[in-house]
Amino acid sequence: MVCLITGSSRGLGKSIALAFGRRGHRVVVHYKDKEKEASEVAAQIKETIIFRADVRDFNQVKLLIDAVVKQWGTIDVLVNNAGITREALMLKTSEKDFDELMNTNLKGPFNFIRAVTPFMLKQKSGHIINISSIAGIKGKAGLSAYSASKAGLAGLTMGAARELGGYNIRVNAVLPGYMLTDMGTASHEKAKELALHESLVKDFSDPDEVSEFICFLAETKRITGQVFNLDSRIV
Ligand SMILES: NC(=O)c1ccc[n+]([C@@H]2O[C@H](COP(=O)([O-])OP(=O)(O)OC[C@H]3O[C@@H](n4cnc5c(N)ncnc54)[C@H](OP(=O)(O)O)[C@@H]3O)[C@@H](O)[C@H]2O)c1
Repeated sequence: MVCLITGSSRGLGKSIALAFGRRGHRVVVHYKDKEKEASEVAAQIKETIIFRADVRDFNQVKLLIDAVVKQWGTIDVLVNNAGITREALMLKTSEKDFDELMNTNLKGPFNFIRAVTPFMLKQKSGHIINISSIAGIKGKAGLSAYSASKAGLAGLTMGAARELGGYNIRVNAVLPGYMLTDMGTASHEKAKELALHESLVKDFSDPDEVSEFICFLAETKRITGQVFNLDSRIV
């Protein structure tokens, strides 16, 4: 399969790219700023290409998708993983930060789905997996805009799944738990303490465990429109 993982220069995206690579799939490694890190990920995968694109910009996304299809003729799996967070109480969240969160976490996946779907429709198959968050289900103080963007992503997942299911294109969402990636590490200490406290196994989530689940899900044929919670915190 040809698998495109957005934001695979580091963190969860890197782990997903490596997991698909270990299974012998062709992997598109994608990044925005961290070119060196993306190259280091690609160096560990047998068949790979690296592309830069800002997920917020549809034209850049479309160029990337067109280039992948030109080179490999197909895109079988799209994982919309790239995302950002901005910690601030709602009343202190600037309009600029709100827009940036929405444009990256919600419009970014929309841009990729819009660009890749015409090819998946033509080949009559495909699987799109969106990375959401428990924050999108139960909300998080200090992360209202992030929570809103991730809740929107669940809606986008189910809407797209309904539209595309009849064409053998599956769309699912996965919610990882709290992971100590760059994003998780940069969070406020109190957020980490709370995540550990709320975890029933008193541990953080492991990106590699999440990636194994995503690889399994990507290879299934009859599962769509679902939001899979891989967290150890009960909603
Ligand atoms: N960490 C957690 O605890 C946690 C929990 C639940 C859900 N999630 C979700 O899991 C996903 C991955 O998170 P992570 O913790 O691995 O984050 P991370 O370590 O901060 O990595 C973020 C990735 O997204 C890319 N990216 C950010 N903005 C972009 C843009 N405008 N255009 C293209 N790429 C962009 C980055 O590219 P560059 O490297 O080039 O900057 C990087 O590869 C996110 O959607 C996040 O919301 C994370």
